Amino acid sequence: MSSSANSGSRGGPHGGLKKKIGLQRQTEGGSPDLRSLSVLVLVIFALNVIFMKWFLEDRNSGFLPGQASPRTYFALLPLKYVDEESTEMLRSRVGDTIAGVLVRDGAAMDRLNKKIEAMRAGDISSLALSPGLADLIKEYPEAPRTMVLKESARLSEAYLRAHTDVDRAPQWSPETLWKEIESLSLPIEESNIVYQVLNEVLSPLTHSDEELTRILRQEIGDSMQPVERKIAPGDVLVEKGQIITKQAARLLETQGYAMLSFPWKQVLFALLVIPFWPLWVGLQTRKSREDTDDSTPWFYLSFIVGLSWLAEYVSSLFYVQGMGSLFLAGCAYLTLPPHTALQLVLGGGIIGALVVSGFSTLHIVIVALMSIAGAFAGFYVLADAHSRGRLWRQLFMLGVVQTATGLVLRYAFNLSFSAEILLPFALGIALWSTLVIAALPLLEDAFDVLSPLRLIELSHPSNPLLKRLQMEAAGTYHHSLMIGTLAENVADRLGMNANLMKAGAYFHDIGKLRRPEAFVENQMGGENIHDELKPSLSALIIIAHVREGLELASEYHLPRVIRSFIAEHHGTTVLSYFLRKAENSGQPVPIDQFRYPGPRPKSRETGLLMLVDSVEAAVRSEFKGGSESLLDVDETVNRVIDSKIAEGQLDDVDFTLRDISVIKETLFTSLRTVYHTRKVKEIKEKATEMPEKRKQEADVSEGSNAPRK
Ligand SMILES: [Fe+2]
Ligand SMILES: [Fe+2]
Repeated sequence: MSSSANSGSRGGPHGGLKKKIGLQRQTEGGSPDLRSLSVLVLVIFALNVIFMKWFLEDRNSGFLPGQASPRTYFALLPLKYVDEESTEMLRSRVGDTIAGVLVRDGAAMDRLNKKIEAMRAGDISSLALSPGLADLIKEYPEAPRTMVLKESARLSEAYLRAHTDVDRAPQWSPETLWKEIESLSLPIEESNIVYQVLNEVLSPLTHSDEELTRILRQEIGDSMQPVERKIAPGDVLVEKGQIITKQAARLLETQGYAMLSFPWKQVLFALLVIPFWPLWVGLQTRKSREDTDDSTPWFYLSFIVGLSWLAEYVSSLFYVQGMGSLFLAGCAYLTLPPHTALQLVLGGGIIGALVVSGFSTLHIVIVALMSIAGAFAGFYVLADAHSRGRLWRQLFMLGVVQTATGLVLRYAFNLSFSAEILLPFALGIALWSTLVIAALPLLEDAFDVLSPLRLIELSHPSNPLLKRLQMEAAGTYHHSLMIGTLAENVADRLGMNANLMKAGAYFHDIGKLRRPEAFVENQMGGENIHDELKPSLSALIIIAHVREGLELASEYHLPRVIRSFIAEHHGTTVLSYFLRKAENSGQPVPIDQFRYPGPRPKSRETGLLMLVDSVEAAVRSEFKGGSESLLDVDETVNRVIDSKIAEGQLDDVDFTLRDISVIKETLFTSLRTVYHTRKVKEIKEKATEMPEKRKQEADVSEGSNAPRK
């Protein structure tokens, strides 16, 4: 009956398991308005950091390439780099030592050869001598004329040979020429004629080749090693008043100094890139199967990411770059499902590195990689925080991992590091770890999120609402403790948040405080008020415990996530016992009067609570003494869980078949221990009908037991 009464699409017993939860989560968790708001929040944070950096630091101390430096700049980070300007200067200086490359002139040599032959043959006309000299030689008597021409030919040949000798550079000059002539011991007049002939016949046999000279200069320059320089923190990079060259500007930017120009590029980056942020978070949240918090406000995600950018900026002022992501990892992993937190820290850290570090490549790489290390390490390190002290130690450890990553990167980038930087990092880690713990309560209050510490506080017996439950509805209190223990066991096996499960279980039936006596666990064997009431009135009272629970939760400021356990733990199940009782009276019965208002469980945690709660109620009512107590616990667990799935109550929860079998198995083991039941098949067969009284108890305690077949 209840099966037809329940709405919805459901297939076989496990039809609901195949439902996809992602799309629904995305739309619930991120309406367009909230997404726009989150983008706005992030852009405001980013612009805030950029403007602060500009106003507080760069505006007064910025530099402009090509202008005189407004101050003396000191190195902040050790760095090894190639000094391109000095290398260029050195190469050009070395190249200038090449005066010019002389090459032989082949045509001139051929011409000289012909002239030598002509001189030997006594042919003056082909020597192209000046007319005066030619006439003078022609007028000379033949014997001395022949001798003059032969000697001239011989010396010309010597000149030619001197130029063709590859091992010897030509040494000819007017002086050497004259000396050679003198050595011939000719009369002075003839010596003069020889000199004049040679003066006109001999022409330069080499010329300077510009192209070859250029190539040689280039090659010699290139063969010079580039000039490498090392700078250590504290070294002067640029003196005050010195003109800032392009290279000096690059060096200053690498060191994190900013230019005087307003950082428009960063502003543009913030405006163009950050609007895509929800795509990243939305995509990753959709993928996350452990997302227990469907409606985690986008505003919160953006706020902690933005806050971490501010933290990064403050850290950079104290030279402990990369600590902003420690703050982000702390806040995210302690208040969000692990996979959402991982993506948030990855995305937030990388964009943050670009926003905070300007466009100083070295800083961006170091800060981004430290964030990535923090994101992955946080996934494992911040897994199990049970106390403030332990949490602080875990955060500190995370900071140590990030710092170690930073130091390895410095080593990888040839940035030597001194032991002095370890102290500010240790102080930075300690400070940000403390600040995360201090910020958690504020974030919890402002954004209604939950940290493990808050969950532990909530689950403590000193909690005012739990105290009231203990005093005013002892049966419900013990039922809640029992559910808490069972649910925590299962959550541990499924890798779910056990602290959250326990806290949710403790408060799920808090609404029974309004009328404790209406619920069988508080009747202590006394009179059952429902015996005297009309079924519709009984149903009204029982169903009201969900609404009244939510009212109390709001009165006591219980977190939103805990309220979802109250709202969803009965889903849209029907009080089948009272419905049947009403139908038996013969009157037409509107089924919705007997149905819980819902919604159906939307998360794995509230889905698990529904299963544990209804299984525990069924087992408790069926095994409460008498012959029925020999019924098989396993059979009851199976029946109740399968019926919840068949009713479609878990359609919005992404449990797998394996999850369901782990839940069943863990509940068998735990409940068997509690109820010490023997498995007696013969008796089980006889007891196929659950007595009416037991059914009523099941409805009255939880109202969600599936009717037995
Ligand atoms: Fe309940
Ligand atoms: Fe309950």
